[in-house]
Amino acid sequence: MRWDYLKNQWIDMAPAWIREAREGPNSTRTGLLDAPMLRACGDVKGLSVLDCGCGEGRFCRLLAERGAAYVLGLDLCDPMITAARQLQSNTDEYRVADVQNLSFLSNRTFDLAVSYLNQCDLPDFMANNREVFRILKPDGRFIIANLHPMRSAVGYWLKTENGEKRHVILDRYFDESERHWKMMNIEFTNFHRSLATYLRGFLNAGFCIDDVVEPTVTASQLEIYPELDDELRVPNFIIYVLRKPTD
Ligand SMILES: C[S@@+](CC[C@H](N)C(=O)[O-])C[C@H]1O[C@@H](n2cnc3c(N)ncnc32)[C@H](O)[C@@H]1O
Repeated sequence: MRWDYLKNQWIDMAPAWIREAREGPNSTRTGLLDAPMLRACGDVKGLSVLDCGCGEGRFCRLLAERGAAYVLGLDLCDPMITAARQLQSNTDEYRVADVQNLSFLSNRTFDLAVSYLNQCDLPDFMANNREVFRILKPDGRFIIANLHPMRSAVGYWLKTENGEKRHVILDRYFDESERHWKMMNIEFTNFHRSLATYLRGFLNAGFCIDDVVEPTVTASQLEIYPELDDELRVPNFIIYVLRKPTD
Protein backbone atom coordinates (compact mmCIF):
# COMPACT_ATOMS: atom_id res chain seq x y z
CA MET A 1 0.00 0.00 0.00
CA ARG A 2 1.25 3.48 -0.92
CA TRP A 3 1.04 4.80 2.59
CA ASP A 4 3.19 1.98 4.04
CA TYR A 5 5.79 2.60 1.38
CA LEU A 6 6.27 6.23 2.43
CA LYS A 7 6.24 5.36 6.10
CA ASN A 8 8.75 2.53 5.65
CA GLN A 9 11.20 4.86 3.93
CA TRP A 10 11.25 7.00 7.06
CA ILE A 11 11.56 3.95 9.28
CA ASP A 12 14.61 2.86 7.23
CA MET A 13 16.08 6.34 7.48
CA ALA A 14 15.39 6.82 11.19
CA PRO A 15 18.63 5.46 12.75
CA ALA A 16 20.88 7.62 10.55
CA TRP A 17 18.54 10.60 10.87
CA ILE A 18 18.46 10.42 14.66
CA ARG A 19 22.24 10.07 14.85
CA GLU A 20 22.79 13.09 12.58
CA ALA A 21 20.20 15.23 14.41
CA ARG A 22 21.92 14.53 17.72
CA GLU A 23 25.59 14.25 16.83
CA GLY A 24 25.81 16.34 13.64
CA PRO A 25 26.87 17.49 11.19
CA ASN A 26 23.61 19.33 11.10
CA SER A 27 24.54 22.70 9.63
CA THR A 28 21.36 23.35 7.66
CA ARG A 29 19.49 23.29 11.00
CA THR A 30 21.91 24.86 13.43
CA GLY A 31 23.54 27.27 10.95
CA LEU A 32 20.62 28.19 8.71
CA LEU A 33 17.06 27.29 9.67
CA ASP A 34 16.86 27.24 13.48
CA ALA A 35 17.42 30.98 13.95
CA PRO A 36 14.76 32.23 11.49
CA MET A 37 12.34 29.50 12.62
CA LEU A 38 12.73 30.52 16.26
CA ARG A 39 12.43 34.19 15.27
CA ALA A 40 9.20 33.44 13.40
CA CYS A 41 7.84 31.53 16.43
CA GLY A 42 8.55 34.60 18.60
CA ASP A 43 8.05 34.49 22.35
CA VAL A 44 6.66 31.01 23.06
CA LYS A 45 6.45 31.36 26.84
CA GLY A 46 3.22 29.80 28.09
CA LEU A 47 2.05 28.70 24.64
CA SER A 48 0.69 25.31 23.64
CA VAL A 49 2.46 24.17 20.49
CA LEU A 50 1.96 21.42 17.92
CA ASP A 51 4.96 20.18 15.87
CA CYS A 52 3.89 18.36 12.68
CA GLY A 53 6.48 15.78 11.61
CA CYS A 54 8.67 16.35 14.66
CA GLY A 55 11.22 13.62 13.86
CA GLU A 56 13.31 12.81 16.93
CA GLY A 57 11.98 15.94 18.63
CA ARG A 58 14.80 18.45 18.43
CA PHE A 59 12.66 21.49 17.60
CA CYS A 60 10.09 20.50 20.24
CA ARG A 61 12.89 20.50 22.80
CA LEU A 62 14.08 23.94 21.63
CA LEU A 63 10.55 25.31 22.12
CA ALA A 64 10.16 23.62 25.51
CA GLU A 65 13.52 25.10 26.62
CA ARG A 66 12.22 28.53 25.60
CA GLY A 67 9.25 28.30 27.92
CA ALA A 68 6.41 26.77 25.89
CA ALA A 69 3.81 25.44 28.33
CA TYR A 70 3.10 22.32 26.29
CA VAL A 71 4.60 20.92 23.08
CA LEU A 72 3.03 17.98 21.26
CA GLY A 73 5.25 16.38 18.63
CA LEU A 74 3.62 14.14 16.00
CA ASP A 75 5.40 11.85 13.58
CA LEU A 76 4.26 8.84 11.61
CA CYS A 77 7.54 7.01 12.18
CA ASP A 78 7.61 4.95 15.41
CA PRO A 79 11.43 4.95 15.86
CA MET A 80 11.48 8.76 15.69
CA ILE A 81 8.81 8.98 18.40
CA THR A 82 10.61 6.41 20.57
CA ALA A 83 13.80 8.47 20.29
CA ALA A 84 11.95 11.71 21.07
CA ARG A 85 10.44 10.18 24.20
CA GLN A 86 13.90 9.27 25.46
CA LEU A 87 14.76 12.98 25.82
CA GLN A 88 11.29 14.11 26.86
CA SER A 89 10.80 16.59 29.73
CA ASN A 90 7.50 17.24 31.48
CA THR A 91 6.43 19.86 28.92
CA ASP A 92 6.90 17.95 25.67
CA GLU A 93 4.94 14.88 24.61
CA TYR A 94 5.15 12.69 21.50
CA ARG A 95 2.71 10.59 19.55
CA VAL A 96 2.76 8.49 16.38
CA ALA A 97 0.26 10.10 14.00
CA ASP A 98 -0.29 11.17 10.42
CA VAL A 99 -0.38 14.97 10.32
CA GLN A 100 -2.86 14.85 7.44
CA ASN A 101 -5.51 13.66 9.91
CA LEU A 102 -5.59 15.29 13.35
CA SER A 103 -9.08 14.07 14.26
CA PHE A 104 -7.85 13.10 17.75
CA LEU A 105 -7.23 16.81 18.51
CA SER A 106 -10.02 19.24 19.39
CA ASN A 107 -10.80 22.45 17.53
CA ARG A 108 -9.04 25.65 18.69
CA THR A 109 -6.66 24.12 21.24
CA PHE A 110 -3.16 25.26 20.14
CA ASP A 111 -1.59 28.74 20.08
CA LEU A 112 1.14 27.81 17.64
CA ALA A 113 1.87 25.03 15.15
CA VAL A 114 5.16 24.34 13.43
CA SER A 115 6.17 22.16 10.52
CA TYR A 116 9.92 21.86 10.15
CA LEU A 117 10.64 20.23 6.78
CA ASN A 118 7.55 18.06 6.70
CA GLN A 119 5.07 19.45 4.14
CA CYS A 120 7.23 18.33 1.22
CA ASP A 121 6.82 14.75 2.56
CA LEU A 122 3.04 14.86 2.48
CA PRO A 123 1.01 13.53 -0.46
CA ASP A 124 -1.81 15.88 0.67
CA PHE A 125 -0.37 19.07 2.16
CA MET A 126 -3.83 20.69 2.01
CA ALA A 127 -5.17 18.13 4.50
CA ASN A 128 -2.42 19.22 6.90
CA ASN A 129 -3.26 22.91 6.32
CA ARG A 130 -6.96 22.34 6.97
CA GLU A 131 -6.33 20.28 10.09
CA VAL A 132 -3.83 22.75 11.55
CA PHE A 133 -6.22 25.61 10.81
CA ARG A 134 -8.95 23.73 12.71
CA ILE A 135 -6.90 22.98 15.84
CA LEU A 136 -5.39 26.50 16.11
CA LYS A 137 -7.03 29.11 18.29
CA PRO A 138 -8.05 32.33 16.49
CA ASP A 139 -4.91 34.45 15.97
CA GLY A 140 -2.84 31.25 16.29
CA ARG A 141 0.14 30.93 13.98
CA PHE A 142 1.46 28.17 11.73
CA ILE A 143 5.19 28.39 10.95
CA ILE A 144 6.34 26.15 8.10
CA ALA A 145 9.91 25.51 6.96
CA ASN A 146 9.99 23.64 3.69
CA LEU A 147 12.23 22.80 0.79
CA HIS A 148 12.25 25.77 -1.57
CA PRO A 149 10.09 24.94 -4.61
CA MET A 150 13.00 25.99 -6.84
CA ARG A 151 14.99 23.10 -5.37
CA SER A 152 12.29 20.49 -4.86
CA ALA A 153 11.53 20.58 -8.63
CA VAL A 154 14.87 19.20 -9.85
CA GLY A 155 17.71 21.13 -8.42
CA TYR A 156 21.06 19.46 -8.97
CA TRP A 157 24.26 21.48 -9.31
CA LEU A 158 25.82 21.47 -12.74
CA LYS A 159 29.56 21.07 -12.05
CA THR A 160 32.65 21.56 -14.17
CA GLU A 161 34.96 18.62 -14.88
CA ASN A 162 37.01 19.47 -11.81
CA GLY A 163 33.97 19.59 -9.56
CA GLU A 164 33.44 23.35 -9.40
CA LYS A 165 29.79 24.30 -9.00
CA ARG A 166 28.57 26.30 -12.00
CA HIS A 167 24.86 26.67 -11.32
CA VAL A 168 21.80 24.74 -10.23
CA ILE A 169 19.72 23.13 -12.93
CA LEU A 170 16.07 24.03 -12.45
CA ASP A 171 13.70 21.78 -14.37
CA ARG A 172 10.20 20.25 -14.22
CA TYR A 173 9.02 23.17 -12.08
CA PHE A 174 5.39 22.93 -13.25
CA ASP A 175 5.31 19.14 -12.98
CA GLU A 176 3.81 18.81 -9.51
CA SER A 177 4.40 15.20 -8.63
CA GLU A 178 6.53 12.78 -6.65
CA ARG A 179 10.28 13.11 -6.64
CA HIS A 180 12.63 10.27 -5.81
CA TRP A 181 15.90 11.07 -4.10
CA LYS A 182 18.61 9.41 -2.07
CA MET A 183 19.39 10.78 1.37
CA MET A 184 21.76 9.14 3.84
CA ASN A 185 22.08 6.37 1.25
CA ILE A 186 18.38 5.55 1.47
CA GLU A 187 15.83 5.97 -1.31
CA PHE A 188 13.05 8.30 -0.35
CA THR A 189 10.09 10.05 -1.91
CA ASN A 190 8.81 13.56 -1.51
CA PHE A 191 6.42 15.82 -3.34
CA HIS A 192 7.16 18.89 -5.44
CA ARG A 193 4.66 21.74 -5.66
CA SER A 194 5.11 25.20 -7.13
CA LEU A 195 5.35 28.31 -4.98
CA ALA A 196 1.92 29.44 -6.21
CA THR A 197 0.37 26.10 -5.19
CA TYR A 198 1.75 26.47 -1.67
CA LEU A 199 0.71 30.10 -1.26
CA ARG A 200 -2.74 29.56 -2.74
CA GLY A 201 -3.13 26.46 -0.57
CA PHE A 202 -2.47 28.44 2.61
CA LEU A 203 -4.96 31.13 1.56
CA ASN A 204 -7.60 28.56 0.57
CA ALA A 205 -7.27 26.90 3.98
CA GLY A 206 -8.18 30.28 5.52
CA PHE A 207 -4.74 31.49 6.68
CA CYS A 208 -3.34 34.98 6.33
CA ILE A 209 0.27 35.05 5.16
CA ASP A 210 2.18 37.30 7.59
CA ASP A 211 5.61 36.71 6.10
CA VAL A 212 7.67 34.62 3.70
CA VAL A 213 11.37 34.19 4.49
CA GLU A 214 14.10 32.80 2.23
CA PRO A 215 16.86 32.03 4.72
CA THR A 216 20.45 32.65 3.75
CA VAL A 217 23.69 32.87 5.72
CA THR A 218 25.52 35.79 7.25
CA ALA A 219 29.30 36.22 7.07
CA SER A 220 29.66 35.16 10.70
CA GLN A 221 27.55 32.01 10.17
CA LEU A 222 29.67 31.21 7.14
CA GLU A 223 32.82 31.32 9.26
CA ILE A 224 31.36 28.61 11.50
CA TYR A 225 29.67 26.64 8.70
CA PRO A 226 31.73 27.12 5.51
CA GLU A 227 29.77 24.23 3.91
CA LEU A 228 26.75 26.57 3.76
CA ASP A 229 28.32 28.72 1.04
CA ASP A 230 25.76 27.38 -1.47
CA GLU A 231 23.09 29.21 0.50
CA LEU A 232 24.49 32.55 -0.68
CA ARG A 233 23.90 31.50 -4.27
CA VAL A 234 20.59 29.63 -4.39
CA PRO A 235 17.66 29.26 -2.00
CA ASN A 236 17.36 25.74 -0.60
CA PHE A 237 14.63 26.43 1.95
CA ILE A 238 11.67 28.72 2.54
CA ILE A 239 9.72 29.66 5.67
CA TYR A 240 6.02 30.60 5.57
CA VAL A 241 4.57 32.51 8.54
CA LEU A 242 0.80 32.00 8.60
CA ARG A 243 -1.92 33.25 10.92
CA LYS A 244 -5.47 32.09 11.55
CA PRO A 245 -7.61 35.25 11.48
CA THR A 246 -9.65 36.18 14.53
CA ASP A 247 -13.41 35.59 14.22
C1 LIG B 1 12.66 15.87 7.03
S1 LIG B 1 12.13 15.06 8.50
C2 LIG B 1 12.05 16.42 9.63
C3 LIG B 1 12.01 15.99 11.07
C4 LIG B 1 12.06 17.11 12.10
N1 LIG B 1 10.99 18.09 11.91
C5 LIG B 1 13.41 17.78 12.07
O1 LIG B 1 13.47 18.95 11.68
O2 LIG B 1 14.39 17.14 12.42
C6 LIG B 1 10.42 14.76 8.11
C7 LIG B 1 9.68 14.00 9.19
O3 LIG B 1 8.31 13.96 8.82
C8 LIG B 1 7.79 12.68 9.16
N2 LIG B 1 6.61 12.44 8.34
C9 LIG B 1 6.54 12.19 7.02
N3 LIG B 1 5.25 12.07 6.63
C10 LIG B 1 4.49 12.25 7.73
C11 LIG B 1 3.09 12.25 7.99
N4 LIG B 1 2.21 12.03 7.01
N5 LIG B 1 2.67 12.47 9.25
C12 LIG B 1 3.56 12.68 10.25
N6 LIG B 1 4.90 12.71 10.08
C13 LIG B 1 5.36 12.49 8.84
C14 LIG B 1 8.95 11.73 8.90
O4 LIG B 1 8.79 10.51 9.60
C15 LIG B 1 10.14 12.56 9.38
O5 LIG B 1 10.41 12.34 10.73
